[in-house]
Amino acid sequence: HYLGIDIGTSGTKTLLIDASGKVIAEADATYPMEQPKPGWTQQDPEDWWKATVKTVRAVMRKSGCKPADVKAIGLSGQMHGSVFLDRDDNVIRPALLWNDQRTAAECDEITSAAGGRKRLIKMVANPALTGFQAPKVLWLRNNEKRHFDALAKVLLPKDDIRRRLIGDYVTEVSDASGTLFLDVVKRKWSSALLSKLGLDSDLLPRVVESDEVTGTLTKAAAKTLGLTTDCKVVGGAGDCAAGAVGNGVVKKGVLSTSIGTSGVMFVHSDQPQYDAAGRLHTFCHAVNGAWHMMGVNLTSGGSLQWWVESVLQGLAGMGGKEVYQAATAEARQCPAGSNGLVFLPYLNGERTPHADPHARGAFVGLNLTHTRGSMTRSVMEGITFALRDSLEIIQSLEVPVREIRASGGGSKNPFWRQMQADVFGKKITTLKVEQGPAYGVALLAAVGDGAYKNVQSACKATIEVAEQTPADRKSVAAYNDLFPVYRRLYTDLKDSMQ
Ligand code: XUL
Repeated sequence: HYLGIDIGTSGTKTLLIDASGKVIAEADATYPMEQPKPGWTQQDPEDWWKATVKTVRAVMRKSGCKPADVKAIGLSGQMHGSVFLDRDDNVIRPALLWNDQRTAAECDEITSAAGGRKRLIKMVANPALTGFQAPKVLWLRNNEKRHFDALAKVLLPKDDIRRRLIGDYVTEVSDASGTLFLDVVKRKWSSALLSKLGLDSDLLPRVVESDEVTGTLTKAAAKTLGLTTDCKVVGGAGDCAAGAVGNGVVKKGVLSTSIGTSGVMFVHSDQPQYDAAGRLHTFCHAVNGAWHMMGVNLTSGGSLQWWVESVLQGLAGMGGKEVYQAATAEARQCPAGSNGLVFLPYLNGERTPHADPHARGAFVGLNLTHTRGSMTRSVMEGITFALRDSLEIIQSLEVPVREIRASGGGSKNPFWRQMQADVFGKKITTLKVEQGPAYGVALLAAVGDGAYKNVQSACKATIEVAEQTPADRKSVAAYNDLFPVYRRLYTDLKDSMQ
């Protein structure tokens, strides 16, 4: 049996699968995200560890498995975050997350240290973006000197969990790509950039491929989790690449969309390919010798969550899932295009395509006929338009797109699935069982343990497409009319956003 653990932003999800890929048990545990200032996001790594222990113990209890049945663990997690550790492995300060926007000055500092944006992209395949890890390390150096002086290691969220599991500092190529320290083409740390930034490579963990075994559980970790010291821990992947493995997006031609807190449009590539303008990320895939490109929206499902939980919930007097259902039912009553109302989902800045930490959200075009339902619908449409922005860049690079596979919250709701098909103007497929990143890394654990020859054969044996949602011609036309308006609004409003 294999465990997949995904350290997400709103919580941790753990799955236990058997060697055939069948899910035996699952559990999750949530934790808060601190926002000490607008645009600043942090979490306490201790919360991730507690959630890991709780969910692993829960799936072991539910499954009735013996400790020795679990042969390997795969780790996934929110990307780009930084866990700052001192020489004794104490966490120095709360971890800065992927959607933290405090590092605009440090991004400029990195770009100029590298000799300009073009040179930087040549070294690490990507431009400096506020959520990435490298600018966070410089932020610590520039703003919390005392903490920087104590800094011995910086780890990504899932790799801090690995440290607690195997007692070693290791990362893997897919998540390491989002630090900005990795030479993505060569799949190893960029000593050139590190030296230009005046940083020591000792700060970083060892980097391996995603299906490699990184170690086995320490005595203490085995005892805490109720497992054995023979249990291996495999590299795993950042949650985007892990989700792609879990969705079978491990070969050319299949593109995946995922709406979680963030929105991700992800495409596999056999070579490292770039968008010259740096709007898409070019990262290593969790598949050996493969890469991927993706566009990321920072507040995707997060915008709907804000709208439903912060605005609608109190008014409707309902709680939890009920409010989402009632809100979507109202949105369905409104025609495609929300009667001309447009929502910009940039509540916490935006990455693709604007790379602007100061971008902000907006409803534009309100009139007296608009209702709560039109507003909910336009929030969902705005989120989906943001994904289309990434899709258009991917298509402009002539990457073949045969199929769009939807996952995450946006794929579970048939109304949103249809909206995606109509906004993208393409048929959407969904999987029979969609379990996301935790499933992807459970498969990587199976590969690392030798149950499958490679990631592609693991996906082929376990993943099945279930449903197809074709695009509706009339709605496609309505969205084709509205999309240029959506696009123009960011440029028109940019100077008024603060
Ligand atoms: C990817 C990204 C987000 C986080 C969310 O680049 O920033 O998708 O990984 O967990």
